[in-house]
Parts: sequence; structure tokens; C-alpha cells
Amino acid sequence: MKYKTFSNGVAIPVVGFGTWQVSPQEAYESVRSALDVGYRHIDTAAAYENEAEVGQAITDSGIKREELFVTTKLGNKIRGYKETLQAAKESMEKLQVEYLDLYLIHWPNPAAHRHWWKEANAESWKAMEELYRKGVIKTIGISNFEERHIEALLASAQVIPHTNQIRLFAGEQQRALVAYCRNKGMVTEAYSPLGVGGILSNEVILRIAGETNRTSAQVALRYNLQKGHVVLPKSVHRRRMAENLDLFDFELSQEQMVCLDALPNTISATRNPDEVPF
Ligand SMILES: NC(=O)c1ccc[n+]([C@@H]2O[C@H](COP(=O)([O-])OP(=O)(O)OC[C@H]3O[C@@H](n4cnc5c(N)ncnc54)[C@H](OP(=O)(O)O)[C@@H]3O)[C@@H](O)[C@H]2O)c1
Repeated sequence: MKYKTFSNGVAIPVVGFGTWQVSPQEAYESVRSALDVGYRHIDTAAAYENEAEVGQAITDSGIKREELFVTTKLGNKIRGYKETLQAAKESMEKLQVEYLDLYLIHWPNPAAHRHWWKEANAESWKAMEELYRKGVIKTIGISNFEERHIEALLASAQVIPHTNQIRLFAGEQQRALVAYCRNKGMVTEAYSPLGVGGILSNEVILRIAGETNRTSAQVALRYNLQKGHVVLPKSVHRRRMAENLDLFDFELSQEQMVCLDALPNTISATRNPDEVPF
């Protein structure tokens, strides 16, 4: 495994295991398999409603806590100082962990808090900063935040978010936002790095897979790694989990990267966080 280092020196494995749309029934077996094939970084969220099963799988794996990197996210219904302290506590209880490696605000402008989203995020961030200072959360970050949401947060933040987890795949690179985040010293995490599976039959990706004797999933993930992102592929199939982790003994050429850079987004436009209905 390779690692990236956050601005505070904490290291994150560059490949994490995604658990969105993994039902509670599937989550236990999937996370057990993922840990078994070598993942040490798990990405979940209160909204995925599988934290308890993810936690049970972590506990039953017997892997030492310090060898794991566990991320979860503050749900959209929850905002406010006390409410966020409580939500973090509940997530940790479900995950059966004494600390989180990374806690994220999942979306910047949830429907339930749209009338006061700036203050709401500031209040929640204050709680996250407190848990960070106490060492209960090792790094704190945001997800789906665009520049205007980050600027609003920074107006009162004492800790600059360590990361922004955003939608990044070949065809969707959010270049201006990535440059802005890097300029602020944030690591960029790529969610849906396979375009939720939708880019794997892309002709250019398939051609490069042929040239490199790799699968299209490996090419798509390697592309995001070479762009400097952490990647979070999800699969409920053990063979694919292993394939998605096997990314470190090949490299895409400059020419192949240029071809992938030129891909249009054929999946769907990235949502405007100010208009999400959740
Ligand atoms: N912060 C956010 O708002 C946010 C939003 C979306 C996602 N995320 C995070 O990012 C993670 C990944 O994103 P995602 O779940 O949207 O999608 P993804 O990882 O881009 O793609 C997952 C899809 O690709 C398939 N797949 C995986 N590996 C494959 C392979 N080697 N060959 C062929 N098909 C393969 C999976 O099917 P099978 O499972 O059937 O193998 C699934 O249908 C999430 O699970 C979540 O942790 C975060």
C-alpha cells in the first residue's frame, strides 16, 4: 500500500474500500472480505446505514486498530455543536472504535438545513475541531464542498479541513475545485472513481487496458492515483476487491494520461450541492 500524508502528518492509505449502496446484510461479509484481501482503509457514512455491520466486521477481523484507517461522515439531518458531538459518538459506538481516523461533513448544504447552512456547518465544525483537539478524531474534513462552501467554513474555522472527498473519475476531474483544495493544503479523495461502474466499458479506457494488460477498473483507478487523489472503489465481489487494490506495479504513460484527461463525462453531471433534495 502507498500512503498520502495530511497537513497534520497523519498518513492515509491511497486506496480505501467504499461501502455506499452496500446493504447492512452485505456490509459485514464485504468488509470482512475487503480486510482479508488487504484493504486497511474503510469509507462509510451514517447515511449508508451500515456502520454497525462495518464495525462488527472490523472487530471480528482481529486486525489491530492502529493498522486501520476508518472514515465516517456526519449525516445531512444533523447539524449543530451538541448534535454533532452526539452523532460522532453514535457513529463510533456503531463502528466499535475508540477514535475515528477521519470524520467528514457529508454534504455542505443539506435540504433540512438550507435556511442556515453556513452557520450550521460552522457549529458542526466547531464540534469536530474539539474532537480533533482531544485526539478522538485524527483528521477532519468535508465532502461535496465547492469553493463557496469552503470559503464560508474558513471564515470561522480554526482547523483547515484535511481533505475534501469529491466525485472524481476519468471524465469528471473538477479541476478548478481540485486546484483550490490543493492550494489550501487539502488531500483530494475520489469517490465513485469507477463512475459507479459506468466508465468501465468506455472505449478509450478499454484500449488502454489492452495496452497495459490490465482491467478497465485498474486503469480507471490508476488514472486517479496518478492525478494525486486517494481512491475509494466499492465492490461486493472479492475478486474485484483484489483487482481494485492491485494498482502499484504498473504506470500509465504520459500519452495515456492525456487521452484519459480528454474524456468527457458521459455518466451524469455532478450534483449541485445547493440543490440536493436530501
Ligand atoms: N461522499 C460522498 O458523497 C460519496 C458519494 C458516493 C460515493 N462515495 C464513496 O465512494 C465509494 C465508491 O463510489 P461508488 O460506490 O459510487 O462507485 P464506484 O466505486 O465508482 O463503482 C462501484 C460499482 O462498480 C462495480 N465494480 C467495482 N469494481 C469493479 C471491477 N473491478 N470490475 C467491474 N465492476 C466493478 C461495482 O459492482 P459490484 O459491487 O457488483 O462489484 C459497483 O457497481 C462509495 O462506496 C462511498 O464509500 C462517497
